Amino acid sequence: MGTGHVCPRRKQPVPHHHPAMILGSFLVAVAMAFTGASASCPVLCTCHNQVVDCSGQRLFSVPPDLPLDTRNLSLAHNRIASIPPGYLTCYAELRVLDLRNNSLAELPTGLFLTAKRLVHLDLSYNNFSHIAADMFQEAHSLMRIDLSHNPWLRKVHPQAFRGLAQLRDLDLSYGGLSFLSLEALEGLQGLVTLQIGGNPWVCGCTMEPLLKWLRNRIQRCTSDSQLAECRAPPEVEGAPLFSLTEESFKACHLTLTLDDYLFIAFVGFVVSIASVATNFLLGITANCCHRWSKASEDEEI
Ligand SMILES: *[C@@H]1O[C@H](CO)[C@@H](O)[C@H](O)[C@H]1NC(C)=O
Ligand SMILES: *[C@@H]1O[C@H](CO)[C@@H](O)[C@H](O)[C@H]1NC(C)=O
Ligand SMILES: *[C@@H]1O[C@H](CO)[C@@H](O)[C@H](O)[C@H]1NC(C)=O
Repeated sequence: MGTGHVCPRRKQPVPHHHPAMILGSFLVAVAMAFTGASASCPVLCTCHNQVVDCSGQRLFSVPPDLPLDTRNLSLAHNRIASIPPGYLTCYAELRVLDLRNNSLAELPTGLFLTAKRLVHLDLSYNNFSHIAADMFQEAHSLMRIDLSHNPWLRKVHPQAFRGLAQLRDLDLSYGGLSFLSLEALEGLQGLVTLQIGGNPWVCGCTMEPLLKWLRNRIQRCTSDSQLAECRAPPEVEGAPLFSLTEESFKACHLTLTLDDYLFIAFVGFVVSIASVATNFLLGITANCCHRWSKASEDEEI
């Protein structure tokens, strides 16, 4: 659907051939100027210096035609529930997209395929329940993603942020996350700020790799560490995420020392000797019984 998107052209030279065609060309030019004007700034929006502001207009859908050179687009504080596929195809200059405080539960796949210059994306205060794999595909310039205050956000796909090498700030605070895989963050080489507070984290064994990784980066990485708390299991409820130490995860590991191995080897040896001896004794007993019963049979005859 979105792939067939056609961008209106910026300008077209007015052809002048036959005098008979001049009137026709003139009409075309007028028509184009007219449509151009209506496409230049959508109703209910203000457009100035490549900044298009459509915030707080009770919009239920995105405005259809924006100026092609739009750099900042704010659709914040509306009631937008979906974005059509290919919506951003024509706006190659887009740097900032503010979708804060709407009713978005998902984005169409490939929305950012042409958003090569997008630096800042605000999706906070929406209704996302999961962040799909490659949701920000091709938006390689992204430095800031705000996904905070999405109370239904339960799942972040391990490949959600794949390829975002420039990402510096990621805000996942005040969602419904109980778990986040290390894989989702590991590839973000440029990450400086990570906000994860206000989520119901379950600090079980599955969280250990992530917490270990975070702790090693905490000097380089600013994080809202005080705000991030464990909701479960009961033993660590209310504890700050970063107060958990190696000791906290000790039970997650089955660590065997040399003594343990020697003990296991010894037990194994004893058991095998015992079974050989038992077999031997059983063999002898069986043999004896056989002979004895044979002897008693002979007596009876
Ligand atoms: C564009 O948006 C960015 C980030 O929100 C902001 O810092 C910048 O001032 C905006 N530019 C204009 C011209 O409003
Ligand atoms: C969200 O937008 C509504 C208007 O649509 C406004 O009343 C409300 O204060 C905004 N909430 C936030 C958190 O900005
Ligand atoms: C948000 O999503 C949840 C399910 O994920 C749904 O129950 C709820 O009605 C949605 N709220 C809005 C405002 O769309």
